[in-house]
Amino acid sequence: MTTFTPLKNDNFLRALMREPTPYTPIWIMRQAGRYLPEYNATRKKAGSFLGLAKNPDYCTEVTLQPLDRFPLDAAILFSDILTVPDAMGLGLYFVEGEGPKFERPLRTEEDVKKLPMADMDQLKYVTDAVSQIRGALDRRVPLIGFSGSPFTLACYMIEGGGSDDFRTTKTMMFQRPDLLHSILEKNTASVIAYLNAQIEAGAEAVMLFDTWGGALSHHAYQEFSLDYAKRVMAQLTREHQGRIVPRVFFTKGGGLWLESMAKMGADALGLDWTINLADAKKRVGHCVALQGNLDPLTLFAPPAVIEKEAARVLKEFAFDKNANGHVFNLGHGISQFTNPAHVEALVHAVHRVSARGL
Ligand code: CP3
Repeated sequence: MTTFTPLKNDNFLRALMREPTPYTPIWIMRQAGRYLPEYNATRKKAGSFLGLAKNPDYCTEVTLQPLDRFPLDAAILFSDILTVPDAMGLGLYFVEGEGPKFERPLRTEEDVKKLPMADMDQLKYVTDAVSQIRGALDRRVPLIGFSGSPFTLACYMIEGGGSDDFRTTKTMMFQRPDLLHSILEKNTASVIAYLNAQIEAGAEAVMLFDTWGGALSHHAYQEFSLDYAKRVMAQLTREHQGRIVPRVFFTKGGGLWLESMAKMGADALGLDWTINLADAKKRVGHCVALQGNLDPLTLFAPPAVIEKEAARVLKEFAFDKNANGHVFNLGHGISQFTNPAHVEALVHAVHRVSARGL
């Protein structure tokens, strides 16, 4: 049997599997991003966000930037969820200050019929970045791979960009549910292939971002978001290089549906800040670990307040003194206006307050 060099810090992977760790591991959604001056410098060199995301050297550089500043317990691949619809021919572009857009959104039956699966050759820049980042990490911490959920990707593909009310997507859902299902089928197959390629290239855990599932009704969430996310989970590579590849599922605004989310095949659920971790833990029982859930705007408070709030989240999770199975994170991505010194205060506070001397 081949042996693999062990990780220097595997607390993140252990916590996702609800194994004991000497402290609560932490990483931060969007940890590589515009709040870091060094990210902005690399982005400038690259010329644009896509110039950065499509170049494995730059991706490696920015993925490691937050780790060189803060003792984070995981790295996350620098990329974007919208690379997948881009590789399905929709033509991703960014308008400064307006976020992502697609040149060819899905509007008609014809558009949906001719939609291909994501071309994995066109996503080679992502798997190349994964292998290069793994090399550069040199076993310091595990690398997280990720994808958007089939439903969240469909929202962008149908709207052609961001939206406040998902009017175009929901109109299709109510008028032509068959078309939405057909898009979701293709997205599901694409996401499975994409995540398995990331695992093959070296991603040691994977996260499925269902950013917009929370905009659906109770019934529609099950039918259009959760069922497809479940199918993704069921077909992911479970073990790679002798170790289980844990899966995290995050539905922003999904707190009402925790019981059904806990049974969807993920090892951990990401939670936004609207839910109390003690309640969440009671509701999911011992099915899954939990990741979250500090309000990202807490980082605009002075360090003393940040420390107090972090301690509160840690205490909520360990309400019954069983602190296994918690990964600390923000409830959503970090704001670009955050002061990096406040992130440092948070990371140190989480490590210090949660130290349990194992
Ligand atoms: O967490 C990380 O550090 C990894 C990188 C990462 C990015 N996007 C980089 C990025 C991850 C995990 C994502 C996921 C993503 N992208 C999601 C799901 C997570 C979530 O936030 O709910 C979504 C919905 C997107 C779509 C997307 N990409 C939007 C809406 C935007 C614009 C956001 C903004 O703040 O302007 C992007 C662009 C993007 N993706 C940026 C970064 C760092 C900012 C781009 C820039 O440098 O101009």
